[in-house]
Amino acid sequence: MRHQSLLTYANYRWLKAAAFLVVLSIAGYAWYRPAGGPNGGTWVGYTLGTIGALLIVWLAWFGVRKRNYVPASLLLGWLSAHVYLGSTLIVVVTLHAAFQVGWNVHTLAYVLMLLVILSGFYGIYTYVRNPRAMTENLGEDTMDSLLLKIADLDKQARTLALGLPDVANQLVLASSQQTRIGGSWLRQLSGRDPACPTTAAVNGLQLLGRARRDVALKARLEIWLYVHVPLSIALIAALIAHIVSVFFYW
Ligand code: HEM
Ligand code: HEM
Repeated sequence: MRHQSLLTYANYRWLKAAAFLVVLSIAGYAWYRPAGGPNGGTWVGYTLGTIGALLIVWLAWFGVRKRNYVPASLLLGWLSAHVYLGSTLIVVVTLHAAFQVGWNVHTLAYVLMLLVILSGFYGIYTYVRNPRAMTENLGEDTMDSLLLKIADLDKQARTLALGLPDVANQLVLASSQQTRIGGSWLRQLSGRDPACPTTAAVNGLQLLGRARRDVALKARLEIWLYVHVPLSIALIAALIAHIVSVFFYW
């Protein structure tokens, strides 16, 4: 629920604000015809660049703000603003740079910004999609109830296996003692364990598969932030280099 209303928050307030900013930027860029052609160093260029830089600082600040205690409804509004205003950078900054890209620190900042935005799009996609996949996967169960059921099956299987030949007994014991859910990042993301001793033991298979899938869905909700956040920091560094270098240059 929370993730769906993120995009519609307050009757699309931030989508409207974003659309306004985009229209204003395009109008400013189209209306102003400086002698040397449009450029980041004209006054419209400076205005768009300053709006872009302020937006980036504000967007990056989100990580700090969301860690302080805030009511969920307020956080939702911030995130909605983050997503829509963050996306406007594609237009605002491209017009600031007047489509001039090349192999330099200015374009480095630009490319980093696009990567942060793209990872953000992916994040929104997982937020909207995953909660539904999670509920479908767990059904009536919770992670705790699944784990209880698995432990219960383990106990029954071990009692039964006592009456079986040694080989079968070993197999069942190994599956109940060595099966793990979760683990390394790779395991969590893939939702599989290739070396799982229980994979052979058909009984537990379905429950285990669902528990692993739940871990996988949760891990996919987080992994993109490991791109989004470090690249945001790199972006700010490149942006400072860009601004300092143009002021030296001019
Ligand atoms: C306070 C904010 C900013 C100021 C004062 C500023 C200043 C400038 C100036 C003066 C130019 C023209 C440089 C030239 O023609 O050689 C320029 C171009 C450019 N800026 Fe900015 N900028 C700002 C924000 C940004 C932001 C946020 C980005 C991207 C993340 C960015 C990316 C670029 C790019 C890609 C160019 C084109 C470089 C080129 O001509 O090769 N700028 N900027
Ligand atoms: C240059 C632009 C952007 C910067 C610098 C930026 C930076 C950040 C930062 C620092 C966080 C906090 C993450 C944390 O500490 O956990 C964040 C969260 C987030 N960003 Fe961005 N962002 C940008 C653009 C976008 C865009 C365009 C989108 C989506 C279209 C987006 C989607 C998100 C989402 C969904 C979160 C929330 C993560 C959570 O609370 O679980 N971001 N962003």
